[in-house]
Amino acid sequence: MTAPFLLEARALVRRDARTATTLLDAADFALAAGERVLITGPSGSGKSVFMRALALLDPIDSGHVLWHGRDIDRHAIPRYRRSVAYVRQRPALVDGTVEDNLRYPYSLQAYRDARFDRDRAEQLSRAAGRGQDFLAKRAGDLSGGEAQVASLIRVLQLAPEVLLLDEPTASLDPESTRAIETLVADWFDADRSARASLWVSHDPAQVERIGGRRMTMHAGRLTAYKEVIE
Ligand SMILES: Nc1ncnc2c1ncn2[C@@H]1O[C@H](COP(=O)(O)OP(=O)(O)OP(=O)(O)O)[C@@H](O)[C@H]1O
Ligand SMILES: [Mg+2]
Repeated sequence: MTAPFLLEARALVRRDARTATTLLDAADFALAAGERVLITGPSGSGKSVFMRALALLDPIDSGHVLWHGRDIDRHAIPRYRRSVAYVRQRPALVDGTVEDNLRYPYSLQAYRDARFDRDRAEQLSRAAGRGQDFLAKRAGDLSGGEAQVASLIRVLQLAPEVLLLDEPTASLDPESTRAIETLVADWFDADRSARASLWVSHDPAQVERIGGRRMTMHAGRLTAYKEVIE
């Protein structure tokens, strides 16, 4: 039997360890295969806290994250992170070329069964409108937009089932923004029956372009988005 949701959060709570302030207030969320969900909300409302908790990157104070309807055992976390990929607003690249960065995940234990595919990497960089020399560029020489493209290709080549995109195009020029949107759309279209994304964006035009179900975060509370009609 197939679980109804790829990813679920039940009453997920995150507190500030120092002050015990609630950062995320019992968030309930479910993401089905084929869905694209957008989260908007003011700065500091807890969107990144929520995404990082969902990605199991930060400790959860209470509640559950379910993957295909099940709790995630400690030993299953590497496999979970491989399937549910968090894309940060500010990409973190290692020293070396773009290709070195794309090869990097394959040096990790969680990917020991997978091999770097240069043709695939070139295909993804072409899809993002990058030139032939992109893979040979030094990570330190990349523009902000190029660095984000490189970090997204690094994730997409591993074919995750869920993408958690935390303002991946904030502060990028329109051309780089479209490149990121195209990469994500191609990834989604390649297997809509098994993939889903959660995208945090502050840009109303981007929210319109991407479409999908909308949610909003206010002061740590995640709710369905309701259009305010004046
Ligand atoms: N690890 C942490 N410990 C304590 N407080 C934190 C931690 N991480 C985030 N916060 C606080 O939680 C609140 C929500 O932060 P968060 O980064 O989730 O905001 P956001 O909605 O993503 O904002 P933005 O749109 O600016 O990215 C902020 O007040 C932030 O200072
Ligand atoms: Mg944020």
